[in-house]
Amino acid sequence: MSEENINIGWRAPSNIALIKYWGKRANQLPENGSLSITLEKSTTTTFLSFRKKESGNSEIALNYYFHGDRLPQFEKKTELLLNNLLPEMPFLVDYELEFHSENNFPHSTGIASSASSMSALALCLVSMEELVNGKKMSREIFFRRSSHIARLGSGSASRSVYGGLVLWGNTPCLKESSDEYATPYLLPEDSRLNKLMDIILIVSSMQKSVSSSKGHALMNEHPYRDGRKSQANTNLEKITEAIRTNDYQTIASIAENEALSLHALLMTSGSDGLLLKPGTLHIIEEIKRYRDSTGLDIFYTIDAGPNVHLIYYEDQREQVLSFVQKSLSQYCEGGQWIDDKMGNGPVQLTPEQKI
Ligand code: DP6
Repeated sequence: MSEENINIGWRAPSNIALIKYWGKRANQLPENGSLSITLEKSTTTTFLSFRKKESGNSEIALNYYFHGDRLPQFEKKTELLLNNLLPEMPFLVDYELEFHSENNFPHSTGIASSASSMSALALCLVSMEELVNGKKMSREIFFRRSSHIARLGSGSASRSVYGGLVLWGNTPCLKESSDEYATPYLLPEDSRLNKLMDIILIVSSMQKSVSSSKGHALMNEHPYRDGRKSQANTNLEKITEAIRTNDYQTIASIAENEALSLHALLMTSGSDGLLLKPGTLHIIEEIKRYRDSTGLDIFYTIDAGPNVHLIYYEDQREQVLSFVQKSLSQYCEGGQWIDDKMGNGPVQLTPEQKI
């Protein structure tokens, strides 16, 4: 390998969970299995540039730029993660590392930026590993390892290294599933579920009062902890069966049950866990009303925040868009919503595309 700077770039999408990962054990191992839709448009682009250190010091050496600025809190978080990765990526201390990262979606919009950013970071690190070891992995091993590394950064990021529907967590619903890494949940080519769409309705872009990490920690002592685990497992079983049989109504009702359960758990966690806003409830009411009157296969899901993801199928796009404009955008902050859909997963970039 040359002594020059080497550049590696990946663009990775965020994802939205239908079955929620909520509660974890040590090392970001999930308490229950989760299932998500990888988005297409909401992405993080990260470039890692690295060169061999001249001195032999054994500390992680990194700079982290976010939208062109050095961000000390990102740098600290990344340094902590890289130090944790040293037992399996010891080469990291031999290089000077520089990360340049950008999100293409606004901050705090209900799109999990840790999922896309940790997934892009992990893909860069595993690409670097291939280069420094001079050994190419099979694509299957490469993405599995990236998912495992991404998980150590942020649990939901483990799912963002794959496109389509993605499952993470050991479950009898999928033979090859694991707590350590996510697995693509493959659909038949002609499945209508390949055309899932997501409109993200921005009710509020204010910083959340409870971070996901804090929310997971609150589950450790939560009075409904055991109940939640068995509910999530049952919901995962039911939704995978509904996906197999194209039972769109069950898919919708399980996804909505998960969104409301997540917030019920937050609200009963003994901390300030009321993250829903009046606009969130208005949107839920409107979606139910519109679904009842039209029979369309639309449903909502919500992450740990106030913003609503309206999920629908491409063949109903025209009606859904006019419904959003006419009935839902009034509840969005500044009328703001994001038009996204299920995507194919991360893309490797060439050094010429460097940001
Ligand atoms: C509600 O993956 O953000 O979005 O592992 O602490 O980084 P950490 O948490 P994170 O939790 C995501 C929780 C969720 C549900 C989900 O995406 O499954």
